[in-house]
Order: sequence, then structure tokens, then C-alpha cells
Amino acid sequence: MSKLIVAGRQKLSGAVEVQGAKNSALPILAAALLAKGENVLYHCPVLSDVEASCRVLRYLGCKVSRSSHTLIVSGSGAQRSDIPDELMRKTRSSIVFLGALLASSGSARLTLPGGCEIGRRPVDMHIKGLRALGALIREKHGCLECSAPYGLTGSKITLSFPSVGATENIMIAASTANGTTTIINAAREPEITDLAEYLNRCGAKIDGAGEGVIVIEGVRSLHACSHTIIPDRIAAATLMSCAAVTGSDITLKNVIQAHLGAVIPVFEEAGCRISCHECELRIIAPRRLKSFKTIRTMPYPGFPTDAQAPLLAAACTADGTSVFVENIFENRYRHVSELARMGANIKTEGRVCVVEGVPTLYGARVDATDLRGAAAMVAAGLCAESVTTVRGVQYLERGYENLEQTLCALGADVRKI
Ligand code: UD1
Repeated sequence: MSKLIVAGRQKLSGAVEVQGAKNSALPILAAALLAKGENVLYHCPVLSDVEASCRVLRYLGCKVSRSSHTLIVSGSGAQRSDIPDELMRKTRSSIVFLGALLASSGSARLTLPGGCEIGRRPVDMHIKGLRALGALIREKHGCLECSAPYGLTGSKITLSFPSVGATENIMIAASTANGTTTIINAAREPEITDLAEYLNRCGAKIDGAGEGVIVIEGVRSLHACSHTIIPDRIAAATLMSCAAVTGSDITLKNVIQAHLGAVIPVFEEAGCRISCHECELRIIAPRRLKSFKTIRTMPYPGFPTDAQAPLLAAACTADGTSVFVENIFENRYRHVSELARMGANIKTEGRVCVVEGVPTLYGARVDATDLRGAAAMVAAGLCAESVTTVRGVQYLERGYENLEQTLCALGADVRKI
């Protein structure tokens, strides 16, 4: 098992490019199952979660090859419709293959997905939505037996919560259904818009992605296309946290400022100066941050739950009290006990977390148990006295492409052993 050795008291400087968005790449790879021909996906990050989706595609009969950050997915629909448990458990977003399989082969047999342990993460909305399109789905002992004997038919679907994954699953399945599907209370995340753009390039007719109501007019079939994955707004927020916690001045290239609309003001309130020019963002942090006041995680365009952990790390040494309210996942403070080992003063009560900033954190051996929690520990390690050892690097590698190399390019001393 690898671990990261993070030298403390680091100051970052310089410019780095932000990776392509994991959460865009994963559903787009599942949707590629429907697009006959050679799909060329640019700026696809090199991550274990992306590799897991490629393994599913290969298992289903597609050819997948990679050249640096370009992935080529060639297929003519699924040649089989089952996904083994071992592959399903690798990621949470493997569930998005359900909609793609039902649309491309009319059946699917898979088990419940894995992914980071950050809460219950049920898939009831995915199932309800696909049933509304005419899919027959039987759930038995964690196994989903699904078929669409009469094909899928457009329907009006109201989500009880704007679930990202459920919106994606329904959108993919509905793109080749008979008739029109309307998703009400759809998720509005930029990754939904990116998926819709990809599908539309493949010949789908999707309108309203990025808004609360998405209308999908089913088409007969989809063809392959070339598409560039959007920048990863969470990777950007993580690097901003690393700069903020170390009082640094860094520039991020390949950023869409609008996607960070809820994140930028939070850093500004804490005393950071942020300037954006075209696709670049520069953050200049003060020697010591002011506290973050109250951060409430919300569906987009609210503050992203995925950025909570890295910002919480930055709050640990801020001047004053920061309050976090986690509204999306119920078990997303597992990094707190590890940050406390480093000297952070944090209390959690249900969904609320109160961070009393301390002047200094101290290097320690900490264990990551999820992707964003791992990033929080790295950020905290950068500003701590002495060295921090972060175990559980496999979590980090699900979503950050060579974070240690990115930080080293900014002048930090982070080694993977
Ligand atoms: C996606 C992101 C993840 C991010 C999350 C929220 C990917 C691969 N992952 O996850 O990084 O943290 O959005 O922005 O894109 N829920 C149900 N029933 C369902 C589906 C969801 O109750 O059928 C609940 C979940 O338990 C959670 C909330 O809805 O409490 C949000 O989940 P959802 O938006 O679906 O997140 P994911 O798609 O899993």
C-alpha cells in the first residue's frame, strides 16, 4: 500500500494545469456504450476510477485505448449485458452503466455499486426513474435484474432530490427511448451539462441541461463523436485550499470560473485575493486565513460537498471559528478525527462541524478513508510543523491525477512511497 510523505511548512508558487473532471469522464464513458463508432475523449484524467470504467467497457465488448489524456472508445453497443460484482464495486458511478445497458441492449444484470463510504448512497431514484421509462427491475440480495422487453418509452419524471447520478442515468437511457422524457428537479451540476453536450454531439436531442428541467427527445440511435472533458472544479478547489492553507500565491490553468461560483467567494471572505483571466485563476492567500463563517453544502450551484473536506483542512489554522453544515451526505466528516491527530480543534454534531482555528498543526500519521478526506489530509500536511504521513493513497488516486507531482511542481515536497 502506498503512502504520501508530506513535508510541512511549505509555500507554493507557480502555475499548474487542472485535470479533466472525473465526474464528467465517468458518465460520458458509460454513455459511450450507446455511441457507435470511434469516440475520442480529450482531457480524460488518468485515475483509478476512470480505469475502472474502461474495464467495464472492455468487459462489455468495447475497445478502449489511451494515449496520454486522450481516450478512444470504440464499440457497436454492448455484446453482453452483465457487469460482475468485482467491477461494480470499484466505483459508485458504475451504476450509470445501468441506463446505458438498458438503452443499448434492452437488459442489464448488475450488483449494487461501490465507491467511497460517505453515507448510505442508495440508488432508489435511479431505479424509479428507469422504471418510469418502462424498465422492469427486480432487486434481489444486492443484485439488479433489469430488462426493457418493449424498449424504453419517454416519460415525465420528478426527482425527489436533484441527484447527479440519477439525472445522468435517466438522461442516458432516455436519449434513445421512444418519445420525450422530461426530468423535473434535475441536478444542475456542470458535469450534467458536459454529459448532455457529449450526448448531443452524438446525435441526442437534450435541452435544458444545467437547469432544473431537462427535456430529452428520444432519437433512434447515437453515433460516436469527439469531445473534450471539462476542467475538474473539485481538483481546482482542492489546489486553492492547498494555496490558502500555506499562505501561497499560485495560478491554476484550465479553470472555468463560473463552475467555482460558490467556492471563490468563500476564499475571498477568508482573505484570499482571486483574479481570473480567461481560463486561468490566480489565488493569493494571506499569511493566515480568516475563518470561513458558515459553509453549507448544497446541490449545484450551491457549495459542493466534494470541496467540504479540503476547505475544512484550510479552516483548521484559520483565525477564528468556521462552521460547516454537510447537507448532501450524512457521513462525510471521517477526515475530522485524523485532522484532530494533527492538532486541529474540531467538533462534529450530526451534519454540523465547528472548527476552532489553531495557530499550528503538527505532522502525524493519518489514515484516509475516502477521496476528498485524503485530499484534506494532504492540504493540512503542507502547512503543518514537520512531516505528515498519509496512508490510504488509493483513495486519493480515485480522483486526483498525481496530486503529489502537481504539488511538487508548485514547489512542495510530497513523495509517494
Ligand atoms: C455525485 C458525484 C459525487 C458528489 C455528488 C453530490 C459522481 C461520480 N459523483 O455522486 O462526487 O459528491 O454527486 O454532488 O459524479 N440519493 C438517494 N437516492 C438515489 C440517489 C441519491 O437517496 O437514488 C441521495 C444520496 O444518498 C445523497 C444525495 O442523494 O445523499 C446526493 O447524491 P447524488 O447527487 O446522487 O450523488 P452521486 O451521483 O452519487
